[in-house]
Amino acid sequence: MGMPTVIVMPLISQGLKPFLMEGQERPHGVTGNTSPNLHPGQGLRRWPWGRATPIFVGMESEPRGRGGRRLLLAAGLAAVGAGVYAVVIEPGWIEVVRSVEYMPMLRPGAPDLTLVHLSDIHVGSIGRRERRAIGIVNTARPDVIIISGDLVRGGGRPDALESFLSALHARQGKYRVWGNHDYWDGVPTTWGPEVVRRAGFKLLRNSSQTIRHAGGRIVIAGLDDPITGHDSLKLAMARVSRRDACILVTHSPEVVRSLGNWDIDLVLAGHTHGGQVRLPWIGALWVPYGTTDHIDGWFEVDPGVRLHVSRGLGWSWLPVRFLCRPAIDLITLRSGLPPGRVGRKSIIGRS
Ligand SMILES: [Fe+2]
Repeated sequence: MGMPTVIVMPLISQGLKPFLMEGQERPHGVTGNTSPNLHPGQGLRRWPWGRATPIFVGMESEPRGRGGRRLLLAAGLAAVGAGVYAVVIEPGWIEVVRSVEYMPMLRPGAPDLTLVHLSDIHVGSIGRRERRAIGIVNTARPDVIIISGDLVRGGGRPDALESFLSALHARQGKYRVWGNHDYWDGVPTTWGPEVVRRAGFKLLRNSSQTIRHAGGRIVIAGLDDPITGHDSLKLAMARVSRRDACILVTHSPEVVRSLGNWDIDLVLAGHTHGGQVRLPWIGALWVPYGTTDHIDGWFEVDPGVRLHVSRGLGWSWLPVRFLCRPAIDLITLRSGLPPGRVGRKSIIGRS
């Protein structure tokens, strides 16, 4: 059966070519190949499974050239826009991430405790991002601030870091551990400890500090940087009792592979930057060594042992973030068990 002229002719008159099925009779008035750009036999495409399928060859003509150029132009503009966004906007566009974490070892009925978890602040100078971060943290009126490592990046100044840390306020204490970038920049062995002390932060280097809360004890145990091999879980946990609520702070989340039988309720980590650059449907393009599978968010790493990984506030290597906004985590610590959790942990005793 021939293709009706009423369909074919308008297509030809608009520079579009009709399509044919294999073995199909050419329409009246259309001889040979309908496209001047095609050789005889073109216009039909045979797929690997051997069945010819109709193809619409009209886009071989001039309109496709203009459309292709427009498509390329749009793609180029989108790429430039994404680049500008990743460099200029997103690195300073802080997201406040709120969550509630139940702590069975807190006394029943104890009031909530507000914990700010910061990581990878990578302070180089005091700019708009840093001022915005200070405002967010202090507006939350936290009880405790914990920074899980990487305070600086190459070229960071001691006075800038001290200004930033001093401006953060917490009712019950400010704590921090070192990260790999801190060691790579020589901060822990030079001006770092003194700056941290003057800014009111307690430095945890395989050691712990205790907070009294509603008649109970919360022990904050800080691990020195695992990436550079300065960590000792045994020393960090030496003063933790089974009756304590225990928060372990570490820069890299890789330590959750080897927590042993220590009585840990919550692990706070950073290091990953959440990947820093993520693509739709693909996710993080790259994560640093020591990330394991824990890139960002909450994880149950052992029965009753929770891990929180912050995607961090700053950047390293390249001043970009894409689909991975800098984060300040506001965690409400609440006594008791969440729905669905049956016990504190299956781990008993110590290694
Ligand atoms: Fe970092």
